[in-house]
Amino acid sequence: MPERDKQVIDVSARRLSRRTFIKGVITSGVTVSSASYLFRASLAGRGTSTAFGDRLITLSVNGQQRRVDVAKQETLAWTLRYKLGLTGTKLGCDRAECGSCTVLIDDIPYYACSVLTHTVRDRKLLTIEGLASAKGLHPVQQGVVDEQGFQCAYCMPGFVMAAVGFLKKNPNPTRAELAHGISGNLCRCQDYDKILTALMRGAEYMRRSSGA
Ligand code: FES
Ligand code: FES
Repeated sequence: MPERDKQVIDVSARRLSRRTFIKGVITSGVTVSSASYLFRASLAGRGTSTAFGDRLITLSVNGQQRRVDVAKQETLAWTLRYKLGLTGTKLGCDRAECGSCTVLIDDIPYYACSVLTHTVRDRKLLTIEGLASAKGLHPVQQGVVDEQGFQCAYCMPGFVMAAVGFLKKNPNPTRAELAHGISGNLCRCQDYDKILTALMRGAEYMRRSSGA
């Protein structure tokens, strides 16, 4: 086979596998975690619930009522990931700096690492796992898939949730307005231009789906 044809096939295969990868991440938020993070998580897990005593509460998450034992000092990010198995909510800095843990609480984006779970008992929680519906991906998720806007995608669930929250109130932003709206989220791969393009595409899909 001529060398040029081989290169074309190679490039197509790479595109296909990357698109498949992004589709997988965008629905579940599952990406590879770093070793240091796993180390920190396993250490933290030893201390939380037994030291202070858990209390059984009900949370409204992604349209479901979930019963869960929660310690007084437990953060929402911890509960979602390690008690409810919703690992699409990522922990990056764990101190309100990076936005990778962003979820919606009553449609407003929050850093889940900095919200105590006991304070959101009567609130409506939405995580990346709850965005897609029976009709398919959420428009913002579809924008990300179509534009392939992320590299490693660890930050992606947080960006998507921040964008969805922002677009609910500002459905027709300029690129600069959307950039400002999601400026609480950081990307270690620094792929900001492509991320913004993907989220602008998502905004366009959201307007179309709402008939705006
Ligand atoms: S993990 Fe919550 S802001 Fe970084
Ligand atoms: S794409 Fe890698 S951290 Fe954002």
